[in-house]
Amino acid sequence: MPKITVVGQGEVEFDGQFSMLEALDEAGFDMPYSCRGGNCGACEVRLLSGNVEHIQDTAYETRGKDILTCSVIPLTDVEIELI
Ligand code: FES
Repeated sequence: MPKITVVGQGEVEFDGQFSMLEALDEAGFDMPYSCRGGNCGACEVRLLSGNVEHIQDTAYETRGKDILTCSVIPLTDVEIELI
């Protein structure tokens, strides 16, 4: 199982949840979000390392290495940072 590390908060194993956001939310991480549908950008974080797969089309466009936690799952161990 890929491990998700959130800088300053800790880490959790991804266990087949719908999205990275869902896995972090279930584990009690204090993650920002609103729409959960790739539209608002509230869940945008910086991907510091690792690879993700996009699981839904998103209306919100991220910059650079930023990702929407509601719209991806981790493929490898990942490290993310709130921005
Ligand atoms: S929660 Fe709105 S884009 Fe992810």
